[in-house]
This record gives sequence, C-alpha cells and structure tokens, in this order.
Amino acid sequence: MMKIDVLTLFPEMFTGIFGSSILKKAREQGAVTYNIVNFRDYAENKHKTVDDYPYGGGAGMVLKPQPIFDAVSDLKEKAGSGSPRVILLCPQGKTFNQKMAEELAGEEHLIFVCGHYEGYDERIRKYLITDEISIGDYVLTGGELAAMVVIDSVVRLLPGVLGNEESHRKDSFSTGLLEHPHYTRPADFRGMKVPDVLLSGNHRLIEEWREKESIKRTLERRPDLLEKIELTEQQKKWLEELRKEKKSLE
Ligand code: ADE
Repeated sequence: MMKIDVLTLFPEMFTGIFGSSILKKAREQGAVTYNIVNFRDYAENKHKTVDDYPYGGGAGMVLKPQPIFDAVSDLKEKAGSGSPRVILLCPQGKTFNQKMAEELAGEEHLIFVCGHYEGYDERIRKYLITDEISIGDYVLTGGELAAMVVIDSVVRLLPGVLGNEESHRKDSFSTGLLEHPHYTRPADFRGMKVPDVLLSGNHRLIEEWREKESIKRTLERRPDLLEKIELTEQQKKWLEELRKEKKSLE
C-alpha cells in the first residue's frame, strides 16, 4: 500500500479531494493512505510561527527550516524503514509529466511539502527535499493545488485503482498520442451524426479509424508529441497522408 503524507498549513484544502471519487475509492480499497499534517504543529517556538524575515532584507517571509525538518523526520520515523521521496512543490521544480507520475507510482512512501505565499529557507531544498516539482509555468498561491494534481495523477495509476488497466495504457500521454474522439448514443443527435464506421460493427475498421484519428488529433493539437515517439510503419503512412491533406487545404 502506498503511503502519502502531505505537509501543509492548510490541511482543509485536501479534504474534498481525498474524500471524493477515485482518490476516495483508492483509500477504501487499501491501495493508499493519506495523512495530512499541519507542520505548524511542529513549530518549537511559543507562538508556533513557521516563517521569519529574510536575511539580507526584502519583501515577503521565508519558511523556517525547523518545523519542516522535524515534521519530515517524525514521518520517516513513523514509517520505519525505507527512504521516502520528499517532494517540494514549487515553480522552480522540474515540470511534471506522465512519465514522472508513472515513476512516483512505483514508490512506497511519498512526502509532499507545500508552502503558501512565501519562500523556503534554502536548507530545506538542499538537505531535506529529494525532488522539486512544478506543475507548469505559472504561479499558484501555494503548493497545495500542485500537490493535489501530482497525487491525483499518481494514485490513479496504482494497481487496481481504475479497475480497468487498459484505461491507462490508452491514456493520452502513455501512448504518446492524444486519444481519438468518443461517441455514444444516439447515432443522430439533432442532426449531428456519429461517423458511420463506428456503427459498422467491423472491429478492424473501427480500430484503424481510431488510430488514425488519434494521429490526426495529435498532429493538429500537439505536433511536438509526434517528434518524441516511435511510430509504426502504418502510422507513418497515415501521418504522411494527413500532412499532405493539411497542406492541400492551406
Ligand atoms: N507553487 C506555486 N506555483 C507552483 C507551480 N506552478 N507548481 C508547483 N508548485 C507551485
């Protein structure tokens, strides 16, 4: 079972996420445990302060090392053996992607450290944190939403959580291509029709259509992804055709 600890000054932010949908189900079925810790509880000083003014002056406050070091050390001790990944969410981190989610899903214990509006004392990054992750090139008010994004994408990959293992083998960023379009009933909704091939019952043709649509969509929306993957000969042929079609329309 994967153990997830989250250090935050805003534990209530996590209750909705961990108590709903797949993340809730994952806990109920014993695939994961969530432990939300307010690191203010570890502050040694009388007023339970977790931040202080920056040395050298300047605007904003800086998170002190002591509460975060002590909280992580306590969580490591409670977990017993093993060395957890200690993950800091921050805009300076490595940009998160599906490959990183897959890699983290193989770990037994993850500790997420979330700060809010302020900086971290550099010694936290240097001596405590094993990974720094950003969820994209934009600035959030804190690491909490970023931690939720990372946790969500990791937990859904844990064995048994989605039930249907095939559903993540077909995920957009696992295959390297975007997914093909999906349709359900009715076949004709107010004059908007489902492509005939999907109603044909011919599975070979349907698979072919899906694969081709997947390439088409990737070419239209994320051509950068096509540079990164190994295409089959058939896929290369389709891609060539699609590129020609696109050119002739320009
Ligand atoms: N904290 C603030 N902005 C962030 C981002 N983009 N990713 C991760 N943590 C953050």
